[in-house]
Amino acid sequence: MKRLLCTILGLMAAVLAAPGALAAEFKVGLSLPTQREERWVKDKQVMEAEAKKAGIDLRVQVTDNDASKQVAQCENLISQGVKVLILAPHDASSAAVIIDKAAKAGIKVISYDRLVTNSALDYHYLSFDNVKVGELQGEFITKRQPKGSYIVLAGSPTDNNAKLFREGAMKYIKPLADKGDIKIVMDQFVKDWQPSEAQKLCEQALTANQNKVDAVLAPNDGTAGGCIQAMAAQGLAGKVPITGQDAELSGAIRIVQGTQSMTIFKDTRELGKRAVQMALELAQGKAIETHGQVVNNGKKDVPSVLLTPFIVTKDNLDEMLIKSGYLEREKVYKK
Ligand code: BGC
Repeated sequence: MKRLLCTILGLMAAVLAAPGALAAEFKVGLSLPTQREERWVKDKQVMEAEAKKAGIDLRVQVTDNDASKQVAQCENLISQGVKVLILAPHDASSAAVIIDKAAKAGIKVISYDRLVTNSALDYHYLSFDNVKVGELQGEFITKRQPKGSYIVLAGSPTDNNAKLFREGAMKYIKPLADKGDIKIVMDQFVKDWQPSEAQKLCEQALTANQNKVDAVLAPNDGTAGGCIQAMAAQGLAGKVPITGQDAELSGAIRIVQGTQSMTIFKDTRELGKRAVQMALELAQGKAIETHGQVVNNGKKDVPSVLLTPFIVTKDNLDEMLIKSGYLEREKVYKK
């Protein structure tokens, strides 16, 4: 009886110790593009907390939108002996070099939120359905404003997501432009997703069109904020529908105040959690369940896990962002 009890206790101890024991043995690298936007701050916080829970030694580097710095920082993480690298590339195609270097060192890579393009090597992609993000934006804005002059902004040309968002939105905008109902008065990428750059572009478009602009497709909340400043300077804030993305606090406040029309909620808590789980599974040599989903990177189909984005307007903001605990009520409805 005593022997049996000891065996059972021993087995229980082994089971309890197993995840921690493995986790404590390995380091994971995390390379992020920026901390200037709220969403990337949240991604970092979530992954740090999840890694801590799992007993993983997470080593974080932030590139500050500098592609060559990101390569150097990842080389450094590789030399620190990380087993898995979670990589959100600043520059999609130049980050392929990082995949090469990681592969040579036997390190698995998770392309996080943004796809690394032009690599023929094996890695996984974990993101949201980014074409769907653009579709939600495009559908919303064309329903709100089916005719008139449009400013169409896309994100950074170095970010594959910017192309996917645009592709999704243009499914709705282009047919109306082809019909002549919509006139696209500006169609530009925004360098490094900078709000100040978006503001400048919107100012230019407003000036060139004597303020006759009827809708703005802004790819995220940061660029929407820049455009809304340009609009406000002309007394147009709240009069012209404008999209966004990321459910940032500033975006949510503008939605409540009526100067921004919508945002897209991508639950970065879920994404960060999945990334850490995936890193653990890869380190354990487990196969990642992708249900056959792939995204093409220009050279191959990359096995992908894509989470669902949701549209947020004034009508469902409480339900989506506050009840879910993503944003705090007192901050969104501040006086
Ligand atoms: C992300 C967006 C973000 C943008 C700018 C994109 O890759 O998917 O959520 O707003 O980068 O950082």
